[in-house]
This record gives sequence, C-alpha cells and structure tokens, in this order.
Amino acid sequence: MHDNFQESDFKSLINFLKEKPILTQNKKVKKFEEEWSKWLGTKYSVFVNSGSSANFLTIATLATLNKTDKRNEIIVPSLTWISDIVSVIKNGFKPIFVDINYKNLSMNIDQVKSKINKKTFAIFLTHAQGFNGLNDELLKIIKKNKIFLLEDVCESHGATFKNKKLGNFGIISNFSFYYAHHMSTIEGGMVCTNNKKIYETVRMLRAHGMLREMKNEYLEKKLIKKYDYLSPQFIFLNPGYNMRSNEISAVLGLSQLKRLDKNNLKRKQNFKIFLEHLNNKIFYAKYDLRGNCNYAFPLILKNPSFKLRDKLENLMFKFGIEFRRGNAGGGNQIRQPYLEDFVKKIDLKKFPVVEHVHDFGYYIGNYPSLKKNNIIKICEILNSLDAEEIS
Ligand SMILES: Cc1ncc(COP(=O)(O)O)c(C=O)c1O
Repeated sequence: MHDNFQESDFKSLINFLKEKPILTQNKKVKKFEEEWSKWLGTKYSVFVNSGSSANFLTIATLATLNKTDKRNEIIVPSLTWISDIVSVIKNGFKPIFVDINYKNLSMNIDQVKSKINKKTFAIFLTHAQGFNGLNDELLKIIKKNKIFLLEDVCESHGATFKNKKLGNFGIISNFSFYYAHHMSTIEGGMVCTNNKKIYETVRMLRAHGMLREMKNEYLEKKLIKKYDYLSPQFIFLNPGYNMRSNEISAVLGLSQLKRLDKNNLKRKQNFKIFLEHLNNKIFYAKYDLRGNCNYAFPLILKNPSFKLRDKLENLMFKFGIEFRRGNAGGGNQIRQPYLEDFVKKIDLKKFPVVEHVHDFGYYIGNYPSLKKNNIIKICEILNSLDAEEIS
C-alpha cells in the first residue's frame, strides 16, 4: 500500500480536534458505524480496534449465544489470517481445515462438503484478497445443514457475489481497516450483522461484557431488578474484553469511506492491467473476476521450481517490488508453529493448492495511486524471468 492517508483525511482530523472533543468511543464511532451499515447494506455494525478483534468477537458472540458441546467444529480455510484460526481455538471450538482453489483462493467446496457432520457449528469463510469465495452450491449446503456462515471480508471490501456486497450473506461478517487494506482507520475493524441479538452481544463483549453497552432497555430494566445488589452501571453479564476503538479512528474512517468506491474502481482497473501484461505461461492468471475487488495482486508461479522462485525473489528485491511470500497470511496456516498441537495428524498431501501457494505464491501491491505505466513496467520486470525455467 502507498499513501493510504491523504490531505483530506488529515484536514477532517484537524477540524475535528479543533473542537476539543472527547476522543474515546463516542458520537463519531456511532456515525461511522451507521455510515458503514448504509454502505454495506446491513442493519448493524460495531466498530472495533482491529480486524482480528472483529474475528474474535464474532466467534465469542456465537459461543456466548449458541455453544453446545455437541457442535464444536468450525470449518476454516488453510489460507487465511492467523486471527481467524485463533478466534476459533480460543473460544473453545475445533478448527477443521480445508484446501483452497486457484480461481478465488478461497475454500475448496468439495472438501467443505466432505467435512460437514453433526458436530459442524459454522463455516468461517475468508474472501481472500478481494475475490468472492461464495457460490450457489456452498450457500445451498449451508442452508440444508443449518450451519452458520461467517464471512471474513477483511481483504475484500466492496467485492460482490451476484451484485450484492460480500458481508451480506453470513449471519456475521468482519472487516479490517489496517493500513494495507482497501481503506484504513490506522487500526480498526467492523463486525456486521442483521441480527439484533448478535448486535447487542457484540456491543456488550466489545466493552467488558457490560449490560449497559447492549442498549436494550427492556433487558436492562429486567436485569437491573434481578441483580439489585449490583451498581446498575457496572453489571458484567458475560466475560468480555475491551476491543473498542476511538473517535480519531472513526473520523478517519468517515473520511476514507467517502472515496472507497472510487478507489475500488481503480483497483479493479489496475488488476486487469496486471492480467493483460503478465506472461500467463509463467504466472497463474485464470482468476474468477466476477465481483472481485483486489487490494493486492496474487502472483503465483505455475512451475513449482525453487530455483525459479529464488530468481523471482532476487528480481523483485533488485527492482524494489515489495512482496510477501505465501500470499496473505503467510501461506498454509497448518504449517505454522502455533498450530503444532492441533494438526499433528493432518496429511498435507490433501492440501495441494495451498501447499503450492505457500511455496510459489506471492502478493504484490495493487493500490489506487499505482499508475498504468508502472504496472506495465512491473509486469515487464516479472516477465523477464528465464524462459527455459518456465515449463
Ligand atoms: C483475512 C483477514 N482476517 C483478519 C485480519 C486481521 O485484521 P487486522 O490486521 O486489522 O487485525 C486480516 C489482516 O490482514 C486478514 O487478512
């Protein structure tokens, strides 16, 4: 990412600060939540201090409202961010991993189907790097099996499925406003839902588990009476956290939201320029572009050659093309040390796509201020890889 914060953002912030306002969570946070809900098309949004917190509160909320020992499995992708998996584990669920597919870098639907059983509680899908990860078949399976769909849209703001924004299909969806993503609030995230009970519980867990944070007058009256030996201001109903954000981040969010659609259009155009100019004999190019909106470009070598990979990395270092190996999240989560105790019996041969991406996949920047001629230059550099190594 480059220059995610612009003059107009700083001006909004300075104007706001001139009023000597309250800086902890207040009116601007509420306004940002309302504006985000309007943009996305959901009833409720809860602004939190990171996308990881959004992930954590999502699973914590479902655990608070629905947990049964019988249904303790959550199906997760092997290519995602660590917080998706940690939120599952730390809230007492078992992560069930599936491979991804090359078209959208999201879950392999056949593997999802094969992993569903009586213990399946939810599918926590990541829309990876701006691609839509949903299809009709998956939505049908989820409905038929009465499983919760949770959408992690942290990398895919504005991407759509059948012309509807991602984040509207699951019972809860998550967004991140970290610097590298489609828009930024310094740090920040959003939990979105149409379900009032979920909304109230996320609000409560975001702020220490406090009853008054639910903003449910009826319940508040009832519970204040029930717990009449407690101060009504300090009734901690559930074990909660402090995952609130603040007014400064909300002001930046409101300012950035104004140009999100325009920026997204630019990212889509940029993505096409990358695809038009990269050599598809060297790099994978058959992505499903229906509804995509990519904040980065996934650069995946076709040939699983470590020699070629070294050459590619040297080339990118030499010309200052910033990259991350393994695509977003560092590749196959299953290989990460924090999961050693959870995945001892997993056969990595059943994860061929994420394994390839782990070793031979990268992502490079695709930001709005990236100019066409720069993209073409980058593609020329990347295409200069030794031809004899390619096939
Ligand atoms: C898919 C996904 N989920 C969650 C997160 C966590 O977001 P944050 O960095 O705001 O904590 C990220 C971060 O990059 C991500 O890519």
